[in-house]
Amino acid sequence: MSTTVTMEKIVNLAKRRGFVFQSSEIYGGFGSTWDYGPLGIELKRNIRESWWRYMITSRDHIVGIESAILMHPRVWEASGHVAGFSDPLVDCKKCKARFRADHVAQAQCPEKPSKHPGECGGELTEARQFNLMFKTFVGPVEEDASVAFLRPETAQGMFVNFLNVLQSGRQKPPFGIAQIGKSFRNEITPGNFIFRTREFEQMEMEFFVKPGRDDEWFEFWRTERMRWYTEHLGIKAEHLRFHHYAPDELAHYAKACSDIEYEYPFGWSELEGVANRTDFDLKRHAEYSGKDLSFYDEETKERFVPYVIEPAVGVDRILLILMLDAYDEDVAEGETRAVLRFKPCVAPVKAAVFPLLRKDGQPEKAREIYTLLKQRWTVQYDQAGSIGRRYRRQDEIGTPFGITVDHQTMADNTVTLRDRDSMQQERVPIDRLVDELQRRIEG
Ligand code: GLY
Repeated sequence: MSTTVTMEKIVNLAKRRGFVFQSSEIYGGFGSTWDYGPLGIELKRNIRESWWRYMITSRDHIVGIESAILMHPRVWEASGHVAGFSDPLVDCKKCKARFRADHVAQAQCPEKPSKHPGECGGELTEARQFNLMFKTFVGPVEEDASVAFLRPETAQGMFVNFLNVLQSGRQKPPFGIAQIGKSFRNEITPGNFIFRTREFEQMEMEFFVKPGRDDEWFEFWRTERMRWYTEHLGIKAEHLRFHHYAPDELAHYAKACSDIEYEYPFGWSELEGVANRTDFDLKRHAEYSGKDLSFYDEETKERFVPYVIEPAVGVDRILLILMLDAYDEDVAEGETRAVLRFKPCVAPVKAAVFPLLRKDGQPEKAREIYTLLKQRWTVQYDQAGSIGRRYRRQDEIGTPFGITVDHQTMADNTVTLRDRDSMQQERVPIDRLVDELQRRIEG
């Protein structure tokens, strides 16, 4: 029997076990903002590290940067965001609620949730464009000259540093610049837990190529990005697919774009976008800044403005799909257990160490092992409650390995190593434990 995973089950588990909390909860929460708890932040860290290794450190021509969230306001004029980064907005004349015009069919009327906006007797206004960038003021004077924006994408930080990286790192196309960082969009209809939020964390890479080679690099990155989800994060291939954009769906800067979509409980929807941004951004920044952002190839004696292929994804959305994809229920010792079947390398806690009994030197021995393992991995120690309960607690947070110290440990220095998925246990000498875990976690 297969388990049905719902958003409700994940939201509840996330809160109960310390993955994700509603932001400012003691004040009643703050619309569609979320905080990551002790386990959520470990999971996020593993997502970032896997992406960074896969996209940057394991490759020859991709480097990382970290650019500022606040940038010169001209950046956003050049990028086209001031003029064109907007969604169509409609208001209900009766209840005054606001909706994205292109999301009305999926939205609920706040007064009559069984109806869609406009079907509840309230008339909708004509659609008008609403810019999604958050505005703020830099310095003490709130005037037009001091307006700044919270960045709506990290990408522009890479484009404005194109020359710096080219010159300081002696790069030449094809090469990439990547970063991980927060972005902000004043979404009209955020929702579905951490799927669409106004503050989110992006992982983006801008890959600069010679014009004319862009189509083949676009295909290369589409394939590479899909491979990461299945091979590195362990996402089930049947829950992923590509959606290729029609020309009228493309962002203002793109010549082509493919989303990698995931099958969420609320249906197939976007996870990551791979876009061919052409030379749009570099040409616009050259025009607005007056700086030459072309590249001169000494070998071929050619000058060109590189085209850009961009894989861009949100860490929060990956965290959501990891939890959805890993969630399962089965029966253990006659009881239904909830289990997160994370791939060991992404699991927030890699192993838990238990003394079977709270006597006979077992807690001391278990603590010794815990202290040894926590130098390398995030591990937990637990001596509270029956051993079955302790295993269940770890299953629910996706800990792949349980290590139990029992009477035999005290005699022969072996422990039992329990596998979360099969629930099988085998005896392993303590002096082989680190190698054995390393093989299973990283192998
Ligand atoms: N840089 C592309 C995006 O933020 O969607």
